[in-house]
Amino acid sequence: MIRKSRFYSKMIFKILKKEVVNQDDYRASYNEVASTYQDWIAQMGRFTDRIIKPAILLNKTTSRVPVRVLDFACGTGYISRKVIEMDLPCEITAVDISERMLEHCADLSDKGVKLVNMEGGAFLNETKETFDVILCGWALPYFQHKVLLKQFREKLSEGGVVGVIANSKGTLHKMEEIFLRVMAENPGNVRKPMNIALQLPKGTEGLECWFRYHGFVPVEIDEGEVTFSFDTPEDLLAWLNQTGALAGTMQIFDNYEKVKRDILREIKKEKYRERHYEINHKYVYGIFRNGGVNGEHA
Ligand SMILES: C[S@@+](CC[C@H](N)C(=O)[O-])C[C@H]1O[C@@H](n2cnc3c(N)ncnc32)[C@H](O)[C@@H]1O
Repeated sequence: MIRKSRFYSKMIFKILKKEVVNQDDYRASYNEVASTYQDWIAQMGRFTDRIIKPAILLNKTTSRVPVRVLDFACGTGYISRKVIEMDLPCEITAVDISERMLEHCADLSDKGVKLVNMEGGAFLNETKETFDVILCGWALPYFQHKVLLKQFREKLSEGGVVGVIANSKGTLHKMEEIFLRVMAENPGNVRKPMNIALQLPKGTEGLECWFRYHGFVPVEIDEGEVTFSFDTPEDLLAWLNQTGALAGTMQIFDNYEKVKRDILREIKKEKYRERHYEINHKYVYGIFRNGGVNGEHA
């Protein structure tokens, strides 16, 4: 008991000192998963499609041609590729922190997409450009939403739109507890904790609240959940690691291989349902127009 409370005090201390999994760790994680990230796209891309709509790209409010699109935290370029397929007059800029993910966007460069390998927040601070449409797929929790949405607002043209899809609270049910338990059991192996859970929106209400606060008006918001089943705990963990769903978690530990057995043991205990091991991905998406008044909701 004393050992456990000493561990949690140490973790809180590290969080206060901002010794947590950070942008460099996420970059390293996505460099690792770049070659397997297509597994995520194959299963989850159909949900991303909900924010890539011709009506949004043919933005009547800004009435600019070509429409300037920012694919923010573009990864391997799924969103940019979909936009190009729509064959609309667009000028696309795609930004990502991971050079390995961007290597998979080489075909997009040939199609006129401007690729930028840069931390997203730094890009938004430095760019002199503005955009009519910002699309951000599955990356919101890697940023402090209060800072990011303010930056989006500043870089959007009047009447411009933002489309986001992100994991929401309740996703990867029990995985946070599993990691905390394994960390508490292996305190000497813990390099730094992770606080990404604080950046997950609470469903549609949470997402709307975040955006309204920054002066965005909702056009469309919805949420959903999908569950995947695996034959073994190893298969489930491999899916989470290879798709980036657990990005940053390896960096929690000095030696991940040493704790992997404990993680698998906990998955076996917590995730078993009717002869399979199940994991849920809960998500929320929204399309928001720039044009409201700042601070409508706290
Ligand atoms: C789950 S992937 C999503 C990729 C793409 N948007 C999609 O829908 O497939 C998350 C992406 O966010 C990027 N990312 C994470 N933190 C970032 C940051 N601070 N700045 C820029 N990109 C970041 C990662 O490198 C990764 O490519």
